[in-house]
Amino acid sequence: MSELQPFTNIPPFINRDVEMRFLQSWIEEKPKNILFLYGPKSSGKTTLIYQFIERNLPRTEYDIKHFNLRKLLLINYESFLRAFFERKDSQQVKETRQYDLKVFKLSVETLKGLESRELDPFIVMEKELEKINKKGKRPLIIIDELQALAEIYFNGGRELINEMFNFFVAMTKESHLCHVLIASSDGYFIERLYNDSKLRKTSELFEVDYLPKEDIVYWLNNLEKESNITDFILTSEQIEYFWEHFGGSIWEISNLLGKMISIAQKSTVPRPEMERIVSRYMMQAKSYFKEYGALDPSRTALLREIYAAVSRNGCFDELALGGLLNNEVYADKKALQEELRYLVQQNFLYYNPTLAEYKLQGRSMEIGLGMFLHEVDAVRA
Ligand SMILES: Nc1ncnc2c1ncn2[C@@H]1O[C@H](COP(=O)(O)OP(=O)(O)OP(=O)(O)O)[C@@H](O)[C@H]1O
Ligand SMILES: [Mg+2]
Repeated sequence: MSELQPFTNIPPFINRDVEMRFLQSWIEEKPKNILFLYGPKSSGKTTLIYQFIERNLPRTEYDIKHFNLRKLLLINYESFLRAFFERKDSQQVKETRQYDLKVFKLSVETLKGLESRELDPFIVMEKELEKINKKGKRPLIIIDELQALAEIYFNGGRELINEMFNFFVAMTKESHLCHVLIASSDGYFIERLYNDSKLRKTSELFEVDYLPKEDIVYWLNNLEKESNITDFILTSEQIEYFWEHFGGSIWEISNLLGKMISIAQKSTVPRPEMERIVSRYMMQAKSYFKEYGALDPSRTALLREIYAAVSRNGCFDELALGGLLNNEVYADKKALQEELRYLVQQNFLYYNPTLAEYKLQGRSMEIGLGMFLHEVDAVRA
């Protein structure tokens, strides 16, 4: 067994040609809408954005304001200010290559004006964007993990969010001052924003889904080149096995590869050990469903319907669950929708706001769900 080494210095970046081309043509056009990137958890939205700005947007031409809201708790106006603005000379944000997160840098006086609410944050932002344009650069605002704003939104701060989106509409569609790119895996939140704030006509949605099979096969056949992994080579059977269990979820596969390094022998991965590791992983997926649905007949019935629909079509819509209302498993449509919302929030399900369709959050969840239902049946029998 070789020593555990860090995976790689450069994170892998497989394919995404279509997505990169789409973003490139979007940025080359005059700003005219807000672009929403959405997709299942860990599908690669953030990575795509980083790669796009690193590879395609020279800093000499673009001024990128990049807000990653993941770790921030945005609960009120003050926390919003802290997330979007900082003092010009502040050293808070380290501008390393990977985390080149730039916010609006303002003078102390302007910041004070914002804090005391004498100044309007959106007017301040507009002025900053004008300055950037005057310098001959193109500004781009990126908000990653938009769902962090849901806290503000649902805590009665609707105005702030609405103002923000009105501002984005004005900057894109109306004055063409700035491109705005937003990413989120929370399909519900995107849909609510969409319905609430007249964004339909002023924004565009683009899905970043898990990678297709040929990309996963290519990647796993080229681990040294793409991920700097030299400890083992996978056989085509093993690659197929990964695909069967994880689909295009590159993040889950990456985690598993890390474990493969520790069991590799003479540049190969012994099949029984590999299966043991994967099976442990699937047991975990099963246990999520167990915690959620065991001893709860309504939830188990819902999971059964979901599994049947997903096995048939890969996805489902609310109509497909109509039988649960007729059988009075759920009192009414609202109760059923609430349960689905919970499953989305807990990352069991992924909701696609464009198609109003649900999927399980990856292939491993589908397998875990099948195992859970099998166990319920076995206990009954
Ligand atoms: N095209 C790709 N090639 C190789 N690895 C990738 C690719 N896209 C994503 N990854 C890897 O998958 C992991 C998850 O990606 P990322 O964080 O970009 O997903 P996300 O969609 O932003 O997730 P979230 O829904 O949590 O915001 C990262 O570790 C990243 O390195
Ligand atoms: Mg992300």
